[in-house]
Amino acid sequence: MFNIVIFGAPGSGKGTQSDFLVKKYNLIHLSTGDLLRAEIAAGSELGKLADGLIAKGEFVPDNLIIDLLANAIDKNSGASGFIFDGFPRTVVQAGALDEMLTKRGMQVDIMLNIAVDNNELVARLLNRGKTSGRSDDNLEIIQQRLRTYEEKTMPVIAYYDKQGKNTPIQGMGTMDEVLARITNAVDKVKK
Ligand code: C5P
Ligand code: MG
Repeated sequence: MFNIVIFGAPGSGKGTQSDFLVKKYNLIHLSTGDLLRAEIAAGSELGKLADGLIAKGEFVPDNLIIDLLANAIDKNSGASGFIFDGFPRTVVQAGALDEMLTKRGMQVDIMLNIAVDNNELVARLLNRGKTSGRSDDNLEIIQQRLRTYEEKTMPVIAYYDKQGKNTPIQGMGTMDEVLARITNAVDKVKK
């Protein structure tokens, strides 16, 4: 089993790179943003709450998102590993992830910390907004999401740093260039 946390600001390429990594390493991609958008599409109570929060660039409460992720893990109990994308978003979520994995005899093996310049993030998200149909891919909410990332999510880096799992990845450049850096880092850790 091999489990990856793919980490970085909105627009850093977590979802794009996960699509490649899923195939290369035979992993299950668990994106909490995608899971929330599926809840919205299904019209569930969680979806109704998430809809308003996502449109404002705010986070769903830790306890709800933690339960959502634990359920998704348990639905894929035969997996040979996971990529966690968009989670942990807070230090509380990072602790909860360790706890839920430990309970299941699993662990985070590597945290890929993708760094992209802020002006590039904004440009990518605005470009994605032309076709994504996402309520949060507009300039005002993009700026809000980047502020929230700095305040609430960046402290997660220190959490993984202490565990020796934080692996900085230069995220500027083409998708292929970034993928090569990532697979190089993964192959050093994965047996
Ligand atoms: O990861 P992604 O950018 O798809 O997430 C979109 C939105 O979903 C976030 O801006 C936030 O509103 C919500 N979200 C959350 N908690 C998470 C992941 C996503 O509240 N752990
Ligand atoms: Mg994403």
